[in-house]
Amino acid sequence: MHYLRRPGWAIPEHEATPEAVFMDRRRFLKGALGVLAGGIAGGIPLAGAAEKTAEEPADRTLNLYPAKRNPKFTLDRPLTQESVAATFNNFYEFGGTKTIHFLAQRLKTRPWQVRVGGLVRKPKVYDIDDLIRAMPLEERLYRFRCVEAWAMAVPWTGFSLSALIKAVEPTSEARFVKMTTFLDRTVAFGQLQFWHPWPYVEALTLDEATNELAILVTGVYGKPLPKQHGAPLRLITPWKYGFKSIKSIVAIEFVKERPKTFWETVGPSEYGFWANVNPTFPHPRWSQATERLIDTNEVRPTQIFNGYGEWVAKLYPDLTSRTYFT
Ligand code: MTE
Repeated sequence: MHYLRRPGWAIPEHEATPEAVFMDRRRFLKGALGVLAGGIAGGIPLAGAAEKTAEEPADRTLNLYPAKRNPKFTLDRPLTQESVAATFNNFYEFGGTKTIHFLAQRLKTRPWQVRVGGLVRKPKVYDIDDLIRAMPLEERLYRFRCVEAWAMAVPWTGFSLSALIKAVEPTSEARFVKMTTFLDRTVAFGQLQFWHPWPYVEALTLDEATNELAILVTGVYGKPLPKQHGAPLRLITPWKYGFKSIKSIVAIEFVKERPKTFWETVGPSEYGFWANVNPTFPHPRWSQATERLIDTNEVRPTQIFNGYGEWVAKLYPDLTSRTYFT
């Protein structure tokens, strides 16, 4: 890969993606073929996307937006322009570029079920609209920091993950919360890349998941979540790199052992389980000292825990250990 020869900051963001972990040539070649195949296949069904959307049942949560803003969470920067946030996305199920917003419209987000189970007393399969209507929706202004060193500030609408955890009553054995994205290769052509460990999986410790900051997001900019942002339900953990914030969740499972996550499987030395933001621990191939705001290109210093240490530093006993920051 030619960009591997350049210094970290010379890496264009569209290349400096988590997918760019393929250090060995064979994997890279396979990846290039896959992107090509995805691109060709991706071009064909675009016309069908409109038909698919037309078939979708109505979203029964529309009247819940905009939700009341929680004033506790304030920003140190302006909100990112909505049109920029909505057209600069990572959603590898739909391709490896930032401009997957067209292809993501292929995903049908109604009807949608979320299976919540594992080590809980009250497992339940939720219809997405019933779930959203049952939960206390609020808007929060959060900073968002991608491992690729770009950043945005966004008004998410959602509910605290702890509210759902409370409803299903985890048993004392539950230590981790594992989340899984949909798997449908007829819709998401990126999932045809068989060498990737689909479906996308992420996980938090139970302590992280019950932290006040962890939210399940259903909307943004005062409206239901666009598909490219991970509709109808995604995670946001603002103190961690963005790849932890799994999109389009279909299952939430409480487990005893630490799950192997999608990016940890692909590149463990670059995209580990903890992934807490820290400017002093560079990514193996680029610095994390600063971040670029995606709409203004302003460059700002990165903050430890993305500025949310007040809420979460207590979860990590050794702040000098690299373990928590990869
Ligand atoms: N979730 C799934 N299922 N698939 C993905 O490719 N990308 C992650 C995260 N969640 C991703 C995902 C990464 S790398 C980032 S930076 C954020 O989504 C991007 O979120 P955004 O597109 O809403 O800004």
